Amino acid sequence: MTDSHPGQTPSVPMASADSRFTLRRLTRWDRSAHLAHLLRLSLSDRHARFQGGMSDAALERYSNQIDWTSTVIFGLFEGTELRGMSELFPFDIAQEGELSVSVESGCQHLGFGRRLVGAVLDTARSQGLRAVHMFFFRDNQGMHSLARAFGAKSRLSGGVLEGIVTFAETERRKRAA
Ligand SMILES: CC(C)(COP(=O)(O)OP(=O)(O)OC[C@H]1O[C@@H](n2cnc3c(N)ncnc32)[C@H](O)[C@@H]1OP(=O)(O)O)[C@@H](O)C(=O)NCCC(=O)NCCS
Repeated sequence: MTDSHPGQTPSVPMASADSRFTLRRLTRWDRSAHLAHLLRLSLSDRHARFQGGMSDAALERYSNQIDWTSTVIFGLFEGTELRGMSELFPFDIAQEGELSVSVESGCQHLGFGRRLVGAVLDTARSQGLRAVHMFFFRDNQGMHSLARAFGAKSRLSGGVLEGIVTFAETERRKRAA
C-alpha cells in the first residue's frame, strides 16, 4: 500500500489504457511501494532489470539506498499498487545519467514501458542532461524496441548493450526555458 501524503505529486491517468492506471513521480513517501514492486518482479525480470540475479534481501538493500533527492522515479499505479517504474540516476559528472525500467509481467505489452521511459527522458531533457544511458541484455527485445523508439544509439559494453539517448544543446535549452 502506498503512503499518501500532502506533498504527493499529481497523478496523470493513462488515456490509452484501463482507467485504473495512473502515472506520477514517486517521492520518498513511496519507499514501501518501490520495494514491493521490485519484490513482485519475476526472477527473469529481476535478472533482466539488474543484469544479474537479485535475492529479496538484495532488492531490499537496493531500495533502501535510493537517494530520493537526486533520483528521478516515475511510477505506474494500478489503483494504489505500483506496477511499473522508471528510474533516472544522475551521474556526478558530465550532466549524464542512467535509466532503468521495470514493468510487472501482468502489465507488460500494454505500452507502459514506453510511457515510463518517455516520462524520465522528458525530465532528463528538461533538467539539461546531455545524455541518458540504459543497459540491457542483448536478448531483451522489449528494451531493443524501447531504445530504438527513443532514438538511442546502442553499443556493446562489458557483455551487455548500452543504449545512449543524446539531447542536442538547442533542445535542452528550449525545454529548460
Ligand atoms: C522491458 C520492459 C520494461 C518493457 O515493458 P512493456 O511495458 O512491456 O513495454 P511496452 O508495452 O511499452 O512495449 C515497448 C516496446 O517493446 C516491445 N516489447 C515489449 N516486450 C517485448 C518482448 N518480450 N518481446 C518483443 N518485444 C517486446 C513492444 O512490442 C513495444 O514495441 P513497439 O513500440 O515497437 O510496438 C519489461 O519487459 C520489463 O520490465 N522487463 C524486465 C526489466 C527489464 O528488462 N528492464 C530493462 C533493463 S533496465
